[in-house]
Amino acid sequence: MDKLIIEGGTRLRGEIRISGSKNASLPILIAALMADGDVVLENVPKLKDIKTTLELLTLLGCHSVFNGNHEVEISAGNLVPEAPYDLVRTMRASVLCLGPLLAKLGRAKVALPGGCAIGSRPVDLHLRALEQMGARFNLESGYIMGACKRLRGAHIVFDFPTVGGTENLLMAASLAKGETILENAAREPEVTDLANFLNACGAKITGQGTSIIKITGVTSLSGSRYRVMSDRIEAGTYMAAGAITGGDLLLTNCPFEELEAVIAKFRAMGVYIDKESPGVRVKAEGDLVCVDVVTLPYPGFPTDMQAQIMAVMCVANGSGMIRETIFENRFMHALELIRMGAKIKLSGQNAVIRGGAELKGAPVMASDLRASASLVLAALRARGTTEVQRIYHLDRGYESMEKKLSGTGAIIKRETEL
Ligand code: UD1
Repeated sequence: MDKLIIEGGTRLRGEIRISGSKNASLPILIAALMADGDVVLENVPKLKDIKTTLELLTLLGCHSVFNGNHEVEISAGNLVPEAPYDLVRTMRASVLCLGPLLAKLGRAKVALPGGCAIGSRPVDLHLRALEQMGARFNLESGYIMGACKRLRGAHIVFDFPTVGGTENLLMAASLAKGETILENAAREPEVTDLANFLNACGAKITGQGTSIIKITGVTSLSGSRYRVMSDRIEAGTYMAAGAITGGDLLLTNCPFEELEAVIAKFRAMGVYIDKESPGVRVKAEGDLVCVDVVTLPYPGFPTDMQAQIMAVMCVANGSGMIRETIFENRFMHALELIRMGAKIKLSGQNAVIRGGAELKGAPVMASDLRASASLVLAALRARGTTEVQRIYHLDRGYESMEKKLSGTGAIIKRETEL
């Protein structure tokens, strides 16, 4: 298993190009199985989760090619309605093929994702909403067995603005008979990107980006060429890298408006962040101060940036509190940060961070993707050497992280353990 060896203490300076969004690419790739013509996607990041999604598409009967230039071509063949457990357990987002398969074939057999390191993460809201559209589900040997005649439009009010649930329903409703209204829909930019892609293929979706989305079903979707949005969480993570190292970074291909809540918190901490052609400048010259953060659905502060801002708060002045409201059990990184010298107290959904810590290098291990990123951030700042183990988590969501960081002066290398 690979690990990263990081020598802390360098101020990062230079340019980092932000990759395409992982969380937008996954549903868009899966949606491509519904198109009758060829789909070409640009700005797709080269990541483990993308590779897994392409494997899933192959199992479902699609043909796909990843070209050198972050471009993926997909053509759907004879579809097979089964997503096996071995794949779903490595990537929960596989459950997003449920809606497209039901819409296209009228049946689906998809392994029920189990728990994961950041909580139980059920899919009950996806299933309940699809049932309202006429689907019927059984659970057999750990598989969700779904069947329907042609799905029909429905008025769906989500109990919670679930990202994956909204995406599954957007795809299903695009090929349903009649009109679907999704209320309390997720407003995340990745959901909007999926809706825009579907529209580029001939779907009729309005209201994406708001909490009420209207979908008028069509009988078929065509192929199209589409550019996936850039990754706002990767960009936010490099903003945190600039902040924690007292650095000066220019992020290119970088989202800005989509990061408003994150940028507001970093600015309140004392970080300079603004658009400067040709990208977004991140500069941290003086001392930083802690802030309070509550994770919320978009446009609130994203849970996927919670671990990273916690790492920065550990070295800022004063104290701050983080309340995690989206996932249970998403503070595993705090325990590893404490091993590096951070002063954090956990109580249920809340973490209180006493700043001003002198972080010291240590061997650390992360439980999930964003937790791993927070440990890399702490390591960039810490005195001495940090070994971040289990970096397969990072490879799932950050393209060439060590190359991007070493290009701005970080002392970081990957070691492969046999
Ligand atoms: C997506 C993102 C993930 C991000 C999350 C919240 C992808 C591939 N993943 O995950 O990185 O952290 O949004 O922004 O895009 N819930 C239920 N029942 C359901 C569905 C969800 O109880 O049917 C709960 C979950 O357990 C969780 C909360 O709702 O506590 C948020 O989940 P959701 O918005 O669906 O996140 P994901 O789509 O899984």
